[in-house]
Amino acid sequence: MVGLGPRKPPSRKGSMADVPKDLLDQIKRLEELFTVPKEKLKEITDHFVNELAKGLTVEGGSIPMNPTWCMGFPDGYETGTFLALDMGGTNLRVCEINLPEEKGEFDIIQSKYRMPEELKTGNAEELWDYVADCLQQFIEYHHEGEELDELPLGFTFSYPATQDYIDHGVLQRWTKGFDIEGVEGKDVVPPFEAALKERGVPIKLTALVNDTTGTLIASAYTDTDMKIGCIFGTGCNAAYMEDCGSIPKLAHLNLNPKLPMAINCEWGAFDNEHKVLPRTPYDIIIDKESPRPGQQAFEKMIAGLYLGEIFRLVLVDLHGNQDVKIFEGQDLGKLKKAYSLDASFLSSIEEDPFENLSETQDLFQNKLGITTTKPELELIAHLTKLIGTRAARLSACGVAAICKKKNITSCHVGADGSVFNKYPHFKARGAQALREIFDWTTRKDPIEILPAEDGSGVGAALISALTLKRCKEGQTAGIRDPEAMLAAAKTTTVHK
Ligand code: BGC
Repeated sequence: MVGLGPRKPPSRKGSMADVPKDLLDQIKRLEELFTVPKEKLKEITDHFVNELAKGLTVEGGSIPMNPTWCMGFPDGYETGTFLALDMGGTNLRVCEINLPEEKGEFDIIQSKYRMPEELKTGNAEELWDYVADCLQQFIEYHHEGEELDELPLGFTFSYPATQDYIDHGVLQRWTKGFDIEGVEGKDVVPPFEAALKERGVPIKLTALVNDTTGTLIASAYTDTDMKIGCIFGTGCNAAYMEDCGSIPKLAHLNLNPKLPMAINCEWGAFDNEHKVLPRTPYDIIIDKESPRPGQQAFEKMIAGLYLGEIFRLVLVDLHGNQDVKIFEGQDLGKLKKAYSLDASFLSSIEEDPFENLSETQDLFQNKLGITTTKPELELIAHLTKLIGTRAARLSACGVAAICKKKNITSCHVGADGSVFNKYPHFKARGAQALREIFDWTTRKDPIEILPAEDGSGVGAALISALTLKRCKEGQTAGIRDPEAMLAAAKTTTVHK
């Protein structure tokens, strides 16, 4: 069907005139459930600040606040050739990154491999075999017939992992719907290296990196105002630079208190004890039915993996409510399938430019086999906006909390991920929330969330380069086997 209404900018007003009372009442109820007012944003932020600090203590809290052994920002003059492996939530990407002599420059070649759905709930051996196969393919394709020394690799492993060394990491728990047996609680590096060795792939893992740390470092490579790296994608999280003296749980190592240390916050776990976040009944269902109930409370209200599911749960609930007439007499078989809608479905609804929401109508018809009335479409549009706005506003609380904790009053925040890059109005709504949290009245916002450089590729390469450089200079804190690391350094040029 072709939209009949005039093309309008995305801020359609909508008309409630013909919406019957039962649906109007529900729209009101949903507004109350999903709106996070300014005062609540401030309350969440303040609690967040305390929880960030608690995560750094020996006793710990719900937010893991993992030290990453990435100990400093790049100066723009890092050089060398590095491989990067990005194991995110959806794809697997292998990159080769060349950092040339020119300040802040990089060249990258890359191949993407789809992460097969069944792998996400399979077993550890299949996972590492698949990952090693992808790396092998990449090297065979790009370096056919070449005699290779071991290539240094930065492995972006975007899950919570504790690290005693930069080249290892014990997975705390799977997130983003992954549920692979036999990996949690173990160091992920040995089985990964074993799979490479079995295939004779000439790679030396130099750094295990979180995507947020990669984002922080890659963004700081080209913009020295970048102080925080964030991912708003399938999952959500942030990293920032702490000083070792402010990390009580590292005190036993007697590190120089002034040394910098990037912290992977793993803030998806914020408020796992449900003290402050305004959870709705739908958030509670999401949590209960996830593979890890009780975990990632904040992430489950914000991240791309869950936005479509929240929306779906609301609609199914309304349909089952006898007092509400919605999608009456229709087969809701498709809508009733868990996780059948992803965040891009919501993006399309928010992008519907037509006053009569005809694109949304087509979407429901084609994807779900549901015929919608005008009032139903109004409710759908409202609900989508509420879910998207809540996600952006809650995300801002995390950014504000890091800034408050570190007394940062002005900076750039580098952000990446499908929700940040593709979800309509996410950036503007997040910026508005920051203004409310900090009561800014200035024309230019002092703290701005901007699109980041490629953290999982370039960031991982830079962290490898920084680690090798540190190793060469004899600063071997958090490096398991400095000699082996230096051997890898021989194959690449590190820093002028
Ligand atoms: C993971 C983090 C990651 C984030 C974004 C979360 O689910 O726990 O490690 O940074 O997703 O990818």
